[in-house]
Amino acid sequence: MSADLKKAAVTGYPVAQSRSPLVHGYWLKKHGIEGDYSKLEVSPDTAENFFRHFGASGLVGANVTVPHKEIAAAACDQLDDAAKTMGAANTLWLDNAGKLCGANTDGLGFLGNLDQLAPGWDKSSGKALVLGAGGAARAVVWALLSRNFTAVYIINRTYEKAQKIADEFGSKTIASEWDNLGKLLGEVDLLVNTTSLGMTGKSPLQIDLSPLSKSALVTDIVYVPLQTDLLKQAAARGNPTVDGLGMLLHQAVPGFEKWFGVRPEVDDELRNLILKDLGVDA
Ligand code: ATR
Repeated sequence: MSADLKKAAVTGYPVAQSRSPLVHGYWLKKHGIEGDYSKLEVSPDTAENFFRHFGASGLVGANVTVPHKEIAAAACDQLDDAAKTMGAANTLWLDNAGKLCGANTDGLGFLGNLDQLAPGWDKSSGKALVLGAGGAARAVVWALLSRNFTAVYIINRTYEKAQKIADEFGSKTIASEWDNLGKLLGEVDLLVNTTSLGMTGKSPLQIDLSPLSKSALVTDIVYVPLQTDLLKQAAARGNPTVDGLGMLLHQAVPGFEKWFGVRPEVDDELRNLILKDLGVDA
């Protein structure tokens, strides 16, 4: 390994489950770049110090996963719009002056996935319904507003969390109750599940899609299984669907470009590599 070998890592606690090294390793190999991307566990009691003195880590940048996205954002000298809005950063890099810069690319990952697998999906920029109100929902709401959706409804088990996101993002974002699900399904052009329901080992997402227009796009951020019951049900009645794996892959693109200087592509070979590692059927 040469002394100027660029090194990046995924930081979090835990990090063992992260597929990021596989994704970046694939791109490093594909582009013949002599770089390194590893897993770096950062314990909660050392996280603030680690990110505040990121320059001492020897890394050119990092991905940040749970539970450090907020601490990382707070340690940055500069944040992109999404990270500023969400108060959370998942991608870090040092600029030429050694300042720590942060971005939140989860929303870009959501957009990149739909742009690739459902081109033109945002042409009408109509109304969307987001199920869930966690960190992923925040990123999705940010993404939809960036593409000028006229209304983004949020329904969540805990109504207060949906209301909090609506308050943060302004008047186009509207929190609603589960009781309104049927009515809202009849109005929207896009349905997004950001809850963990439907994931292998979790409760199913039980939803009656009959009020939904058959032209509405249905997407799920769950990718284990790849074809969730929601996507299967939507596809069976003729709705276009997009699975959630691409969000994971596309959110990695901006970091790789910052650290290693090449904008990588999300291709079938990468998808298949990750699916195989996850033990998920395509
Ligand atoms: P992430 O940051 O990945 O979005 P999260 O913050 O844990 O993850 O959010 C998970 C989402 O799934 C939340 O909207 C959660 O609802 P609550 O805010 O009410 O907790 C939703 N969720 C998880 N289990 C659920 C269940 N059994 N029924 C309904 N919603 C559920």
